[in-house]
Amino acid sequence: MKIAVVGTGYVGLVTGTCFADSGNEVICVDINKAKVDALNRGEIPIYEPGLAELVEHNVEAKRLKFTTDLAAAVKTAEIVYLAVGTPQGADGAANLSALWSVVETLAPHLRTDAVVVTKSTVPVGTCARITSMLREFTGRDCDVASNPEFLKEGAAIEDFMKPDRVVVGVRRQEVADILHQLYEPFLRTEKPFLSMSPESAEMTKYVANALLSTKISFINEMANLCERMGGDINDVRRGIGHDSRIGFAFLFPGVGYGGSCFPKDVRALEAMAIQHGLEPTILRAVDAVNERQKSVIASKIEQHFGAELAGKTIAVWGLAFKPRTDDIREAPALTLIDWLLEKGAKVRVHDPEAMNNVRADYGDKLAYCDMRMDAIDGADALCIMTEWKDYHSPDFAEMYQLLKSPVIFDGRNLYEPDRMRRRGYKYFSIGRPTV
Ligand code: UDX
Repeated sequence: MKIAVVGTGYVGLVTGTCFADSGNEVICVDINKAKVDALNRGEIPIYEPGLAELVEHNVEAKRLKFTTDLAAAVKTAEIVYLAVGTPQGADGAANLSALWSVVETLAPHLRTDAVVVTKSTVPVGTCARITSMLREFTGRDCDVASNPEFLKEGAAIEDFMKPDRVVVGVRRQEVADILHQLYEPFLRTEKPFLSMSPESAEMTKYVANALLSTKISFINEMANLCERMGGDINDVRRGIGHDSRIGFAFLFPGVGYGGSCFPKDVRALEAMAIQHGLEPTILRAVDAVNERQKSVIASKIEQHFGAELAGKTIAVWGLAFKPRTDDIREAPALTLIDWLLEKGAKVRVHDPEAMNNVRADYGDKLAYCDMRMDAIDGADALCIMTEWKDYHSPDFAEMYQLLKSPVIFDGRNLYEPDRMRRRGYKYFSIGRPTV
């Protein structure tokens, strides 16, 4: 099929590339010329495992192209995917200005049989609104569908190629059939293709992210309770997880969720609830618990060192909001770093992928260390904010020598408290006894 994908951000680029890889002719459009030029040179603007190779392969096979010319790209497309950004607006609701402007621009160029599909996370009712906009601009009824993405950063290619399910929201069975054909190569593992109304599909995306966020905030609150009452959240996690109704997924306590999806989507759903006259009690709590959790390491540092950190050097391992990505949007590490700087500490940071993004925002306020061990050299304490593999089994004896005092604040529960005690460390973690 001939597909145009509008927006070459993380979602659009992965979507376009994977559809090209299954044999479709894909043209990706972006208004950012520098980005399109870079993509045409084979430079990928984000770090995502496997993506660069897949782009290169499909560009060489001439199935994947990049352009700034929206009109030309749309003219021949049987399917037009909309994957432009829908950032959080002032009131927490999604800002859809980029989407509206794309719809307006592409309308005159659409084939009469084209299907327009939203891939960006958009408020419930957006498909309906696009349908009426297109009716106004073209004078006819166009097919508009919703096809939310459930891609995890760092595993996006795999998630796209082997989805747990594909959800589409359509008004006509014929449109579901077209999208089913498009997804068939990815559903060989007998995973379901679920067709529903556009409103249900749009809602599905928000509900999935809101529930995952709820699980994280829930376990974080339980972890904080364990700390006060003497339990160990890791044992509790095992104790509950074997109950088949509960399970283990997404119940790891930590320093709070970050990234481009959970915080924004929880707040957007909250805003939608309020717009419709409903008090979003649970969503508000999920967001509030998460904001508090992002400061949990700061509180532990304050309890240990006192409120004044001038003259102290703190090392931070892990800046990205999670491993295998260079994404620092809403990353808990940044909340900690801001606090440390405010308290007058010197901050030495390390991250395997995200350092350039942090440097762009923080400039010379931080010391950037290419080697994880350089970051802790002479530091009064180490904070672990992202569970990169590199941090799982460091040389503890070497660390002991390098640190000025052997203190670790572990926001991701990477090490065994008992072993850390035997190694001579003062070790703080989440929801487990401090040793
Ligand atoms: C998420 C959803 O998983 C994906 O389906 C959706 O389409 C986009 O948002 P992503 O933001 O890439 O994907 O990250 P994810 O791996 O889901 O992690 C989100 C955050 O939750 C991270 O900050 C992570 O550290 C945190 N988390 C996750 C926990 O704190 N505990 C857990 O048990 C799981």
